[in-house]
Amino acid sequence: MSVPVRAWARVLDNRPAARDTHWIELDCPAIAGAARPGQFVMLGTGVQDLAAPFLPRPFSIGTRTADGRLGFLLRVFGDGTRRLAEMGPPESMLVLGPLGRPFRMSGDRPLLCLAGGVGLAPFLFAGAQARLEGLELRIVYGERSGESVFDPDLIRRITGVEPDLRTEDGTVGRRGLVLDHLDLQDAPQLLACGPDPMLRACVDLAARRGLPLQVSVEEHMGCGVGTCQGCVVRSADGEWIKSCTEGPVFDAEELSWQT
Ligand SMILES: Cc1cc2nc3c(=O)[nH]c(=O)nc-3n(C[C@H](O)[C@H](O)[C@H](O)COP(=O)(O)OP(=O)(O)OC[C@H]3O[C@@H](n4cnc5c(N)ncnc54)[C@H](O)[C@@H]3O)c2cc1C
Ligand code: FES
Repeated sequence: MSVPVRAWARVLDNRPAARDTHWIELDCPAIAGAARPGQFVMLGTGVQDLAAPFLPRPFSIGTRTADGRLGFLLRVFGDGTRRLAEMGPPESMLVLGPLGRPFRMSGDRPLLCLAGGVGLAPFLFAGAQARLEGLELRIVYGERSGESVFDPDLIRRITGVEPDLRTEDGTVGRRGLVLDHLDLQDAPQLLACGPDPMLRACVDLAARRGLPLQVSVEEHMGCGVGTCQGCVVRSADGEWIKSCTEGPVFDAEELSWQT
């Protein structure tokens, strides 16, 4: 795994991408070249700005380009994401990455990406990488409502894949949850990223159908590099493990899913 780099990165673009959601591009060749799908970076404003977010926040790498651009899907939840969402050219963000364990992507079985909300971000990168490597990949992507759906044209352009959309209120795509109406006939390997209840449902589904499942967990993170202990999850054998360094991607059976 490559050594993480800390760098100031110019904001090249920041545009609204859905309700409370921004597509942000940074100029960061030092990190773009080394990144793998499923890895993340810590994004912050550095210590010259003592207003929130004083601590950086973790974001999945959504895209990277040959000329060193990184793309992020950023949804506003609290003060930290609000501040980052306000930044634009010519400002710079302090970026640390690439961090964490990526998805294992092999051609053994087709890849089926299950994305809830901004859990879509790592699958943009995974889709682009699968296209490069000639791997078969599908994306099922769900949101509560159509106004939160990230532009399907952009998903198509980045990944070459037509996303299978779901919304809970049926305003875009099929009405329902990500795991409703799933086609599993090709016995895929499942990759999942989204809210905890969705990940738990994925674990049940994978166990019932005997399918391999990797999950990307989204714990709160203070440092991203294994020092603050802010991101621990319970392993299957009862140990607390750090999701920033041991994850964020885990085989489902590595973790405890007891409530
Ligand atoms: C590996 C990883 C990858 C991520 N990738 C993305 C991404 O690509 N795009 C994106 O928009 N977000 C992503 N996130 C989530 C993002 O980091 C959080 O939304 C952000 O840290 C919240 O910061 P804040 O200061 O705005 O909110 P805070 O003020 O810290 O919190 C606001 C509210 O959101 C809740 N909250 C904060 N963080 C989380 C969390 N991780 N899980 C559940 N609830 C939370 C808090 O409990 C609180 O209610 C990722 C998180 C991880 C760990
Ligand atoms: S985020 Fe600090 S130890 Fe994982």
